[in-house]
This record gives sequence, structure tokens and C-alpha cells, in this order.
Amino acid sequence: MTSKVLIIDDTPEYIDMIDDILDDLDIFAAKDGLRGLELASKVMPHLILLDINMPDMNGYDVCRKLKNDNSLKKIPIIFLSANEGCDFEEIGFNLGAVDYVSKPFNSPVLKARVNTHINLYKLQTDLEKEVQKATSEINDLNNEMTYLAASIAEMKSKETGNHLKRVSNLSFMLARSLNIQISEAQKIKMASILHDIGKVAIPDYILNKIGKFEPQEWEIMKTHAQIGYEMLKESHFALMQLGAKIAHEHHEKYDGTGYPQGLAKDEISLAGRIVAVIDVFDSLLDKRVYKEAWSSKDVREYFIKMRGTHFDPKICDVLLENFDAYVSLRESDFDA
Ligand SMILES: [Fe+2]
Ligand SMILES: [Fe+2]
Repeated sequence: MTSKVLIIDDTPEYIDMIDDILDDLDIFAAKDGLRGLELASKVMPHLILLDINMPDMNGYDVCRKLKNDNSLKKIPIIFLSANEGCDFEEIGFNLGAVDYVSKPFNSPVLKARVNTHINLYKLQTDLEKEVQKATSEINDLNNEMTYLAASIAEMKSKETGNHLKRVSNLSFMLARSLNIQISEAQKIKMASILHDIGKVAIPDYILNKIGKFEPQEWEIMKTHAQIGYEMLKESHFALMQLGAKIAHEHHEKYDGTGYPQGLAKDEISLAGRIVAVIDVFDSLLDKRVYKEAWSSKDVREYFIKMRGTHFDPKICDVLLENFDAYVSLRESDFDA
């Protein structure tokens, strides 16, 4: 693909001259700053040659506008000017220009500088694309591995029907309904997948017991929260640290009667309180080896009853306000 160069200069003779010198490139030209900016957005040039002295909007102002525009700010700018002296150069460089060429032009110099900066720009853009691609691959792999690790515990307990995926997506939605920033909500979405990872250490006969637990079985079952925490807490990754916290806290209750630590109110992290709500919400609506699925009416009543005791009342209210939407979202197999 031929490289595109945009010239912004109010003197047509200079535009013609540059057009001749850079005859192997695609040249676009504008006679004033405003049209130059419009054309820049339209053609997305690989380089801009920018005159300094122009009526209305001078080259510095055009440069400032280009640098303030996220889609244009990385395009290299070379200033063109008849002005002598280092002040002009300095101002240009301070505004983010990459180079400076004086009029009248020395053709080979102009050509060499333009080509150098186009090549640098292309290299930089290619590199950024590569980094972006690699980063998104690492993120995908990360998500898959997190999901895989968590699924081992889920499969062991024969909790079919994508409980983890639903807890993850619904926790994200609830976090967003609570006005938590999208980047934070995404972290909760990923980390919540790990909430029951500690169940890998719970014997199958307990996990899949039909009927009531004996007291000592219940004590063993409860250890999954602590074990999940122990498994993840040494990680150097913030996401795993959050997973550790959620695993630790998802059975804590707002009034302090939960386990394993008996934390109350905001001693439990916000993520922990959100996942506590969603984990119960999804589990009650789910059929398990030990219970039938509850009706949405019964689940709603349960949350009304447990508001402020088991669950954070504010989070509970947000769920209750949008209850039907959350139930249908849960049934729709959506991906947040
Ligand atoms: Fe759990
Ligand atoms: Fe769960």
C-alpha cells in the first residue's frame, strides 16, 4: 500500500513542489488548517507536513488539535516553515512534532525525512497491533484457564447447568447495576468464577450427598471457602487475589453469622457481598442433587426476608428492583 501524506499549506506553489518531490507517495493537500483537520480524519495519512504561518488557524494550533484527537494524535507531523531560528523549532517539538523542514526545500532531505518518519510510524503501529494481539491472546488464555480450573470443582460436585458461567455473568451485571466501573466489574466477572474452587478438596460423598449433612459433614463442606482462599492467596496476580477474596467471603453473611470468618457488613468486600447474593440467587433457581429448583416467586420472597441479615440490603434492593430482568437474564444463557 502506498503511503499517504497530507500537506497543509496555504501556498499552492509549495503544495505542487512537495507533490513533485514525493512523487512515489499518495499526496493529499489542504490550503488551511480547518480543511486539513477534516482531511486528516478522512484519509488517515501516515504523515502530515504542516505549514506554520497560515491565516486563521496557524500550524501550531492545527498541531494542538491533532494531538488532542485520539484517532489522529499518533500520526507524525513535520513542520514546514520559512521561519528561521530555534524558537520555532522548539515550539514545534514541544507540541509533539517529530521533525522540522525549512523552506525552500532541499528535495533529497525532505524525501529522506518523510520516508524515515513514515517507516518509523508504520513500525510503531505494527508493533502496537502485535502487542494488542498478544495481550488479547494472553487474556483469552487466562480466562480459559481460570474457567477450566474452576470447572474441575464444579464437575466434581456435579453442579451441571453452567452455575459458574451464570454467577460470573450475573455478578458482572449486578456490579454494573451498582454503578461499579466497567473495568472493576470485569474483574469481578472473572474472579467470581473461582468462588467454589475449594470444593476440589471436599470428598465426593459429601459434595453429592442427597439429604441432610451430618454436623461433621457440614463442617467439612464449609471448609471449601477457606481452602479456596488458601489455594489462590499466594498468587502474584491481582485477579487471583480477588478470586481468593471472593472464595473466602462468598458464604459470609451481612449480619456476621456466615462462615468461615464471621465477617459483617463492610468487613466483607463489595465483591464478596455481590457474589454472595448472586451465588444464592442462582443456586436457589437451580436444581441440585439435594434440592429441586425454587420458583422465582419463592426466591424473591427469600431475598426480601434475608435483606439485611444474610445479604447486604443495598445490593439486595438492586437485585429486587430488577428481579424479573435478572431471572430472565439467567435463563437466556447470555454472556455479559
Ligand atoms: Fe460455596
Ligand atoms: Fe456457587
